[in-house]
Amino acid sequence: MKTLYISVITAAFLSAAPLGLPKLHIPESNPQTKAKVELGEMLFFDPSFSRDGTISCATCHDPDKAFTDQLPVSVGIDGKKGTRNAPTVINAAYYTSQFWDGRVQSLAEQAKFPPINPVEGGLHDWSEVVSIMKKNPEYVKRVKEVFGTDEITIDHFGMAIEAFERTIIEGDSRFDRYYFGGDESALNERERNGLALFLGKGRCVECHTISQTHALFTNNKFLNLGVGWSKIEKDLPSILKAYDIKDTLAEDEAVLMNEKFSELGRYVVTKEIDDIGAFKTPTLRNVELTFPYMHDGSLTTLEEVIVWYNNGGRLSPDDPLSPFIDGGIRELGLTAQEMEDLVAFLKTLTSPQRMKK
Ligand code: HEC
Ligand code: HEC
Repeated sequence: MKTLYISVITAAFLSAAPLGLPKLHIPESNPQTKAKVELGEMLFFDPSFSRDGTISCATCHDPDKAFTDQLPVSVGIDGKKGTRNAPTVINAAYYTSQFWDGRVQSLAEQAKFPPINPVEGGLHDWSEVVSIMKKNPEYVKRVKEVFGTDEITIDHFGMAIEAFERTIIEGDSRFDRYYFGGDESALNERERNGLALFLGKGRCVECHTISQTHALFTNNKFLNLGVGWSKIEKDLPSILKAYDIKDTLAEDEAVLMNEKFSELGRYVVTKEIDDIGAFKTPTLRNVELTFPYMHDGSLTTLEEVIVWYNNGGRLSPDDPLSPFIDGGIRELGLTAQEMEDLVAFLKTLTSPQRMKK
């Protein structure tokens, strides 16, 4: 088991929010304690919560890969492929909903799903997760310490992991030092021009929000950029007809096992036609390291992402546009130099913890 991370997270847990980030809201229903964070960390790195004992949260959210797997779509037990790109869990504690389609609200709820998703942990159900915890005396002891009970439940699993994830907070990038810290020298001229484009001509900030005192780079909304449209373009009516799912558990299986259902995006939660193909605006912090990009990992580099935006939601101006595309996505008319500068700016969002030693 990885134990190195604990000293870092304990330090983060005890200090205030880093430069560029707001204070984290901790709900009264799941207060933060050091013992809970430690239990959560153990669970996060423990592969016992998978059918063949090989897959932990950290398999797909690897601290050495900025808490992603750097794969287009994730791979779970028996080499089974999902449909979606693993987002980083760095700063996920700030999101108002979790998953690309926001099908759950809290980190504690979110954590309950991977162990029992057939293409992730592959366990049968939550009682199996609980019995794995019960068989490990260390977990029994720690749950008692943290939650004051011998009756382990699946919510203890989720709440402890949430507490751990709330410590994975990273700001203080070169952008933060420039923008919030007043250090003019933190960005070079190209990067400053990239920032100006991000705020102006590129209109990126409309969705990847920068506020007065902090920057989460997300508006926590669901928007359609046209990504993945070609996968459902031909048979959308029959996909919609086939998709008749109402509870989150079945939804979690359906969207991660069926590529076409996955492309319905936010629609699976709201059942609103306008939400077809809409996905959550992801944070851009550490984006240099969280490749490949978009909900389906279909864009390989940041350069490609910028090309996508510059063409109004497609890689080539000859490709068809999705009819569901958000009104905020239009051709930008950026020059080659401007596109380079935007990429240079995005690379200033890497936090110091992520810098190569
Ligand atoms: C097999 C790979 C895999 C495993 C194992 C896995 N995840 Fe994920 N994780 C993903 C993928 C893929 C998504 C996106 C799925 C979606 O949006 O439908 C995701 C989404 C998330 C999110 C939402 C982030 C956001 O930006 O919305 C969090 C938080 C998260 N995972 C934490 C965990 C935790 C905690 C565990 C262990 C209990 C775990 N993951 C296990 C692949 C994995
Ligand atoms: C209308 C809202 C909106 C605007 C404007 C916008 N984005 Fe995005 N951005 C999103 C959404 C939503 C996604 C995820 C879409 C998906 O996966 O289907 C995304 C994804 C990304 C990603 C991939 C991140 C990842 O982890 O996969 C990058 C990089 C990015 N945007 C940068 C930019 C830049 C640079 C601009 C300006 C040129 C911009 N965005 C403008 C909403 C927006």
